[in-house]
Amino acid sequence: MTKKNTVLVTGANGYVASWLVKKLIEEGYTVHATVRDKNDKSKVDVLKALVKEETNRLKIFEADLLVKNSFNKAIEGCSVVFHTASPFKLDIKDPKKELVNPALLGTENVLNSVNNSDSVKKVVLTSSVAAMYSDASECLQYENNEITESVWNNTASLDYQPYSFSKTIAEKKAWEINSKQEKWDLIVINPSLVLGPFLNGQNETSESFKILKQIGDGTFKKWIPKMGIGLVDVRDVANAHFLAAFSKNAKGRYITNAHNTNLLDISKELYSIYGKSYSIPNKPAPAWLIWLIGPLLNKALTRKYISNNLNHQLKANNKKIKKELGIEFRSMNETLKDAFQSMIDSGALKAK
Ligand SMILES: NC(=O)c1ccc[n+]([C@@H]2O[C@H](COP(=O)([O-])OP(=O)(O)OC[C@H]3O[C@@H](n4cnc5c(N)ncnc54)[C@H](OP(=O)(O)O)[C@@H]3O)[C@@H](O)[C@H]2O)c1
Repeated sequence: MTKKNTVLVTGANGYVASWLVKKLIEEGYTVHATVRDKNDKSKVDVLKALVKEETNRLKIFEADLLVKNSFNKAIEGCSVVFHTASPFKLDIKDPKKELVNPALLGTENVLNSVNNSDSVKKVVLTSSVAAMYSDASECLQYENNEITESVWNNTASLDYQPYSFSKTIAEKKAWEINSKQEKWDLIVINPSLVLGPFLNGQNETSESFKILKQIGDGTFKKWIPKMGIGLVDVRDVANAHFLAAFSKNAKGRYITNAHNTNLLDISKELYSIYGKSYSIPNKPAPAWLIWLIGPLLNKALTRKYISNNLNHQLKANNKKIKKELGIEFRSMNETLKDAFQSMIDSGALKAK
């Protein structure tokens, strides 16, 4: 294989990022991978396992989103920066400290280092459809009742859907910094809920892990709310980042959403495969039940959120990424089966 460029992946041990590192290594790139703590085996071993024989194409660096100039060393010699590091947590106590600071200051920090580098030509930022909307009910105000790349979230705040707020202001800041210079291009990937196999079976930080675990561990008993969400496979999200970096015609934001679905249909699909052995809900939870126990399961399930999402359909238009990057999405069945199976295999889910 011919030697290809060197690229940087921030938060490389994360659920989404680890699949991106895998793809980059397989495609022949040299990857500078940042993690917070190089000595934390539970985080770093997943990366080392990706390069069993040719460790020279993976270099692990320590960097923290909240420490100024922390990414300078890792960026040296890189032509592309994939900035994925940012907390994906819904159940939080201090939104500014836990979400907004790492998302916003981290983006500023990474992009300042990019500005100071002579090698970086492109940045691919992992944003989210959360930077476009807070509640599925918002779709109704747009043409065809769907969100597109032209839509921005204008309802999230520190008090309401702070994760969505953190993604919105971080992405806006990235576009602002990009507009003030001409050395590097910015492409933004906006995934919906990411599921699919976990390379690190102990990855409990991503909300993706928590949501799937709660569906399979009996938390919901028989009932789950029919809340409109989008779904996409983690392997397709990694591919979207890859294509965004290396396709000449990539431009702007890309909604990366395979299926407009809801929590009930996701759960029913899993029930049809694993329902005999695992406690998976397959009935629609009535509003009163979610109002009662929702906030106990997850602090983000406030009454306002439930009203604006229960029985509302999310429609996120994926035409741009299919047309411009030629991406083909996996089926919902494949994504869910592989995700659930990987949790069984890692011991994260136990049969009933
Ligand atoms: N999963 C989804 O459904 C989804 C959907 C749309 C967008 N996204 C976006 O995808 C990205 C990755 O999310 P994920 O689901 O893969 O979550 P994840 O597995 O928890 O990954 C988050 C990464 O960010 C790192 N990080 C957090 N705070 C940091 C800090 N202060 N300094 C340095 N690194 C820090 C984490 O490092 P540690 O391991 O050390 O904490 C981890 O590597 C995020 O930008 C998220 O918003 C995710």
